[in-house]
Amino acid sequence: MEFKKRILCIGAGYVGGPTMSVIALKCPEYRVDVVDINPDRIKQWNSDTLPIFEPGLDEIVKKIRGKNLFFTTEIEAGIKAADIIFVSVNTPTKTYGEGAGMASDLQYWEKTALQIIKHAQNNKIIVEKSTLPVRTAEAMERILKASNRNIKFEVVSNPEFLAEGTAIKDLLEPDRILIGSHTDAAGTKAAQAIVDIYAHWIPRKKIITTNLWSSELSKLVANAFLAQRISSINSISALCEKTDANITEIAYAVGSDSRVGSKFLNASVGFGGSCFKKDILNLVYIAQSYGLHEVADYWNMVVQMNQYQQSRFVRKIIREMFNTVADKKIAIFGFAFKANTGDTRESPAIFITQKLLEEQAVISITDPKALGNARIDLAGLDNINYETDPYQAAEGAHAIAIVTEWEEYRHLDYQKIYSSMKKPAFIFDGRNILNHCQLFEIGFNVYPVGQPDLNHFK
Ligand code: NAD
Ligand code: UGA
Repeated sequence: MEFKKRILCIGAGYVGGPTMSVIALKCPEYRVDVVDINPDRIKQWNSDTLPIFEPGLDEIVKKIRGKNLFFTTEIEAGIKAADIIFVSVNTPTKTYGEGAGMASDLQYWEKTALQIIKHAQNNKIIVEKSTLPVRTAEAMERILKASNRNIKFEVVSNPEFLAEGTAIKDLLEPDRILIGSHTDAAGTKAAQAIVDIYAHWIPRKKIITTNLWSSELSKLVANAFLAQRISSINSISALCEKTDANITEIAYAVGSDSRVGSKFLNASVGFGGSCFKKDILNLVYIAQSYGLHEVADYWNMVVQMNQYQQSRFVRKIIREMFNTVADKKIAIFGFAFKANTGDTRESPAIFITQKLLEEQAVISITDPKALGNARIDLAGLDNINYETDPYQAAEGAHAIAIVTEWEEYRHLDYQKIYSSMKKPAFIFDGRNILNHCQLFEIGFNVYPVGQPDLNHFK
């Protein structure tokens, strides 16, 4: 079949894979190739077991793979054939040299730019899909222009706003699509080519076009605002625990103001995930590098508050269990950074487990999707059991800590669990998902986040 256009995506990860699957589904007249330097990842994309778990993804991939969606390691051929190249490689926090621990590590990004100039033979639109520091497109353009080969590359920014666990829904029905470009004729034409892709299924009024720098910076700011809401509510949860106010009631009362809004106000053990912390630290680093120290300090507190919330959760477990957890079995319910994903990157569960192990607790971890990643995260540490069955994980335990808000944890038989545990039995509900009064009546000592404790010691 003759395709109208060829799209290439470099990077077959959490973003590249699902995003390209949806573009291919909605644009059958375009051929979409997804390439990666990791051959194992590509093999998985071509198998029955995809490398990532996302509701709805399997069905889409199975429907169109081999028709207009292809996963390959043929990067060179892909670059040559493509009209539009999305770059969706990882941009982690730098771990070395200048800006270590804060700045974005752009080495994968730069390598991609070098690959593109090496193999390209005609004009192309390069789309920044990865999350990048503001003004990265300028650096990209300099690299691409340095080739002196009379090929024109137009760089467009199109950041991704999907959240893990709801990626397919977010891609099919996004709140908005953001496309940033230069405002001259060539830039506007390139932006229009990207608008045309999304216009296949997204109403035009939801497609926002801006200048390049606004688009790049909007992505960092969007994540910073979301994370800031969580740190704000978590900071107040600490105050609630001192005053017998209830964080759930406060979130409802405050969020009912339509100017504030009700979403993203669930107090928790803290936010995790591969992006919030890295993107805020990147924002902090950028502000610092422009000499805007107050701006940097302001956003840095969002990350510090998140760390405080995780530490506070561990300290509370130790304090309430009579200041020692040595040789006590603690069951960790949920290891993923949020429900409906197997991803554990920056999951608060990692920190919580490590700290409890330092206190010589014996840990049993259960999670419906993340045990494989948990084993990798905690490799080399002793005194940990991994259990697929939560009842097994809790058997003989002194305490349960709810760390991920999996729906199934709401519906367990807690009477049965209580009977199998050591007494006094504790539950630390780090997500406020359980029926605390019912648990108290069963006999548990219950410690929610930002809500009064229910214990039998008073
Ligand atoms: P990921 O690590 O899952 O995937 C990146 C892929 O790029 C890897 O498979 C890696 O092998 C590949 N890669 C790296 N260098 C390459 C090269 N030179 N050639 C070919 N392939 C190469 O990362 P991700 O979670 O998909 O994130 C990608 C970008 O999207 C990041 O900038 C991230 O901040 C951003 N983002 C992520 C999410 C999310 O939910 N994960 C959401 C929005 C935006
Ligand atoms: C987040 C953003 O929501 C996406 O828009 C963005 O594209 C993405 O980051 C990215 O750039 O990578 P994600 O990290 O997948 O998506 O998941 P979220 O649903 O945002 O949750 C992040 C963390 O915050 C989780 O640990 C979650 O449990 C926690 N959270 C969320 C709370 O503690 N309370 C809340 O009210 C909401």
